[in-house]
Amino acid sequence: MEFDKVVKRRVSIKKFSIKKPPIEKVVEAIEMANLAPTPGNIHILRYVIVDEPKKISKIADACQQDFIRKASYVVIICTESKQIEKLFGKRSEKYVKYHVGAAVENFLLKLTELGLASSIVAIFSEETIKNSVVIPDNAEIELILPVGYELIKGKIIPIDKQSLYNRLFFNLYGERFYKPFPKVRRADV
Ligand SMILES: Cc1cc2nc3c(=O)[nH]c(=O)nc-3n(C[C@H](O)[C@H](O)[C@H](O)COP(=O)(O)O)c2cc1C
Repeated sequence: MEFDKVVKRRVSIKKFSIKKPPIEKVVEAIEMANLAPTPGNIHILRYVIVDEPKKISKIADACQQDFIRKASYVVIICTESKQIEKLFGKRSEKYVKYHVGAAVENFLLKLTELGLASSIVAIFSEETIKNSVVIPDNAEIELILPVGYELIKGKIIPIDKQSLYNRLFFNLYGERFYKPFPKVRRADV
């Protein structure tokens, strides 16, 4: 699928069909997440694919978001960031989040291209999920990504995105108009 189309088609889906997509497609999307830029080329992300209904239900409880219960899979995005903390100190906290964002966007776009749907979930009880999926103490849960087929394909109308008019600047913060650099003539030199 053409890149712009995939980007525009990706929307947060919160209604899933009972039809379960093949796990290979979820792994394919994780492979794309794994290609995202990483600070210092250190691979801190860990991915847990959950498809046991009881565990998915516990995760839905831990997030207090009922729509997760209907997902075929839940992908738990974790980080093991000790190495990054050593290397980048104070900045590492931000770096980890930037990396998670980049990887998750790759993941969501690949899912979209494959005809699957998801939504980012960032509110959860980390302890409850750690206990139900047995995630070690050195790993932090960053995001929860329920995955499945959209209940009725194409029904979701993308949310209107705010125009860039007041947010895109050229050469100066707040300068909304691009003023091309004047051509230097031989006489000016
Ligand atoms: C950091 C972050 C946290 C989010 N947390 C949740 C969440 O806990 N539950 C939820 O339903 N959606 C969550 N979302 C999805 C947003 O609500 C959604 O992306 C936004 O409304 C824009 O819609 P779109 O993704 O369809 O463009 C989150 C998105 C981001 C980027």
